Amino acid sequence: MSRVVTLIRGDGIGPEIAAAAVRILGEAGADLEWDEQLGGMAALADAGDPLPDATLESIRQHRLVLKGPLTTPVGTGFRSVNVALRREFDLYANVRPARTIVPGGRYDDIDLVLVRENTEGLYIGYETYITVGGDPKAVAQSTAIVTRRGCERIVRYALDYAVALGRRRVTIVHKANILKAVSGLFLDVAREVAESYHDRVEVNDVIIDACAMKLVLDPGQFDVLVTTNMFGDILSDEIAGLVGGLGMAPGANIGETGALFEAVHGSAPDIAGRGVANPTALILAACMLLEHIGDFPTARRIRTAIERTLRDDAVRTRDLGGHASTDEYTVAVLRRLA
Ligand code: NAI
Ligand code: MG
Repeated sequence: MSRVVTLIRGDGIGPEIAAAAVRILGEAGADLEWDEQLGGMAALADAGDPLPDATLESIRQHRLVLKGPLTTPVGTGFRSVNVALRREFDLYANVRPARTIVPGGRYDDIDLVLVRENTEGLYIGYETYITVGGDPKAVAQSTAIVTRRGCERIVRYALDYAVALGRRRVTIVHKANILKAVSGLFLDVAREVAESYHDRVEVNDVIIDACAMKLVLDPGQFDVLVTTNMFGDILSDEIAGLVGGLGMAPGANIGETGALFEAVHGSAPDIAGRGVANPTALILAACMLLEHIGDFPTARRIRTAIERTLRDDAVRTRDLGGHASTDEYTVAVLRRLA
């Protein structure tokens, strides 16, 4: 029986890369049925709401989402729909693998997975200004919330993931030396949880700023990294940069009752509508979706087709130094699938 997936094509380059992903999944024989729903600017224009009830209802029902990027207006306007979705469905684990497919960058053998806590920390947006001497914005204040339960479940997720996939090491990334409460709690809980895994996977810890440097100098010392929300946001773009940039970086947002798969990148308004976007990140996200529902063979076939296209055929989009349009690249992957 085919699985129904809520499909949100998204804004900017979203519709272009979503079309490529849907086409490739179809050709690969993935047993999926799409329930197309609106989100972001497209939904705002059509339904007056960036996150319509129909979209939420579809996700509630199917619990599986493939989503193109959604534009978040800066400063004014609505709050991020991406953040709202993560919160609404408590998608607490953000899993971002970075693996070299196209050699020729600084490193040719990157294979990292970043597991980021998705619902707590500084990004909850408990922010305010404090008026001093008549200046309403004299002081800005932000509150981070970190819970024992939140730390426990994200660390457990990372450790279970590492064990299931036979990864060798999990590194806890923190700033407990300075943020003694919010990051100290994370480190304490992480070490506690890790104790019961000591015979299955190696665990160590590193301070966030040192980690950022070590990732650039010698990424091979890391395998799976687990960290809190904001550190994870920053490090995941850094590791995407190690494997050819945002066009190659997929992400999964996973909770107890649902899972949403997307590219790490945004709606790329600078190249939207020009047919030049790299759809690989979203296609790899779709592969993660297939693996999540247990269809490993189809995911493997698509991954292999992508690798052959990029590596052997050297058909690449412009962000990877090639000349292929989104369509030309998609057709090349389809040829490798056949
Ligand atoms: P962006 O990721 O959209 O673009 C950054 C740079 O990377 C641009 O030069 C863009 O052309 C390039 N790029 C990104 N994806 C590409 C692809 N697939 N192929 C080729 N080049 C690609 O980040 P930016 O400009 O900061 O954000 C644009 C909008 O996207 C904002 O409204 C932001 O809020 C939203 N956004 C949405 C996300 C989501 O839906 N999960 C994640 C990040 C940003
Ligand atoms: Mg980010």
